[in-house]
Amino acid sequence: MVVKRMRLDKFISKSTELSRKESKKILHAGEVTVNDQVIKDPGVHVDIANDDVMWVGEPLSVATGNRYILLHKPEGFECTLKAKEYPIVTELIAVPELGSLRIAGRLDVDTTGALLISDDGKWLHRVTSPKHEHAKIYELTLADAMDSEAQANAVKEVAEGILLEGDHEETKPATLEFIDETHARLTLEQGKYHQVKRMMGYFGNKVIELHRASIGHIDLEGLEKGDSRFLTPQEVEQF
Ligand code: URA
Repeated sequence: MVVKRMRLDKFISKSTELSRKESKKILHAGEVTVNDQVIKDPGVHVDIANDDVMWVGEPLSVATGNRYILLHKPEGFECTLKAKEYPIVTELIAVPELGSLRIAGRLDVDTTGALLISDDGKWLHRVTSPKHEHAKIYELTLADAMDSEAQANAVKEVAEGILLEGDHEETKPATLEFIDETHARLTLEQGKYHQVKRMMGYFGNKVIELHRASIGHIDLEGLEKGDSRFLTPQEVEQF
């Protein structure tokens, strides 16, 4: 197998909308990790197919083949490149060169639902960047029932934005709709780490089941758990 290597600042600028100069800035700010280690040196070379390069928690990759895949993620699979405790989601996809694929907006091991996977770094960044405001709809089950007063309060606070533990900024305004006392639908236009679970934790509750029903205009219609399909060119372009 041929290993293709590239300077880190070039890799970042190819996989995002940043210039080489801006790429160096985010490196110096310590916002980039390679295989879970913060790297500040723009001259470090990365293996473009196998190294796990992340910018503030979101994966970056250089476009090599432009494949765009929707997977209905089952529970029990990790959204990582190398398996740690559980099998990884790309094992569910029957395409060659799995090593060049990256995930847009990871789901926890116990979360099910829509996952977009591609080898087009710029496209992945457009899908996940809060700047582009693609709504993600989550369906959740709560451990504790919330009465109508608690529901109304949560709906209001979520619509205004809440400050999660350890964060410096409030969450972006979001839409919370209750279906009954333990089931709700949450629509987010951003993707902070464990955001849904932390938001419900803010109200003293616990999410016991979580499913991402859609990302932007893409939903899981016709796709069984564990199955995947390529997006149509029209679906790709809409992001
Ligand atoms: N928010 C979470 O807490 N977990 C997920 O898997 C996705 C969003």
